[in-house]
Amino acid sequence: MVIYFSGTGNSLAIARKIAEATNDQVIPLMEAVKLDLSGEARIGLVYPSYDFAPPPAVQKLLPKLRVNLQAYIFVVIDCGAQVGISSWFARHVFKQMGAKVAFCDKIRVPDSAGIAYKRNPNKQIWKFTKYASRLERIIDDIKNNRSAIHYGGWSLLGWISINTSFGQKMIKAFKPAANPDKCIGCGTCARVCPVENITMQEREGAKPIAVTGDNCTTCLACVHFCPHQAMQLGKTSVEKSWQYHHPEISLKDMIRK
Ligand SMILES: Cc1cc2nc3c(=O)[nH]c(=O)nc-3n(C[C@H](O)[C@H](O)[C@H](O)COP(=O)(O)O)c2cc1C
Repeated sequence: MVIYFSGTGNSLAIARKIAEATNDQVIPLMEAVKLDLSGEARIGLVYPSYDFAPPPAVQKLLPKLRVNLQAYIFVVIDCGAQVGISSWFARHVFKQMGAKVAFCDKIRVPDSAGIAYKRNPNKQIWKFTKYASRLERIIDDIKNNRSAIHYGGWSLLGWISINTSFGQKMIKAFKPAANPDKCIGCGTCARVCPVENITMQEREGAKPIAVTGDNCTTCLACVHFCPHQAMQLGKTSVEKSWQYHHPEISLKDMIRK
């Protein structure tokens, strides 16, 4: 079973490729926590690095997985560049459960948070040049149940991100909100939000508006998939040409089932 968490489809695309090669099922983390996985001989996790750490939703849900302690467990982190503490976190959680992560690696992809730093993710498509061969090697290792921890170390930046008020402030800085002049309440954002944190609120004399709750995991799916470019980060609105999703992943793939 390949379990994923994804905002703009990078992790989903990787999870799918691995599952295709290993004949495994792909399932979102939000669904996997509801299952008893004690019969699974191979369990994979694919998720991104956000602020040098796993997304808050992954931090919260990973310890809730009920896995076969003897399973071959692998973790693949996708990121713009730095995994930080992301893979170490999974190793730590599984160790506490009495299981062991056998394989960890990272893969570089366009940075979905580039929109906050004036770096257009669509201009980072060059990262896909090395992606295919690296993913092929990762898949070969996983298919053969190889043990290797390529990127699995502890990181101070990741620790700060998870454990300090500075880290929490960084996370809040990425919480999107709807621009009242642009939002027409179509609900796309609510449907792609993996943690069901967005609701539509009625407005007098105007179409409904999307309202983000307190459970935002900062995946930016709502920003990147909004058909009206109405979701913004603080005062930063996002042009259509800056909206990014993995080229093999569509809006339909990202809609919560
Ligand atoms: C809020 C946020 C913070 C991020 N922080 C990092 C980071 O610290 N290091 C990094 O290399 N990439 C970072 N990224 C980029 C993502 O890891 C990368 O784009 C990832 O592939 C997104 O996966 P997804 O499409 O499955 O959500 C960040 C992205 C977001 C949305």
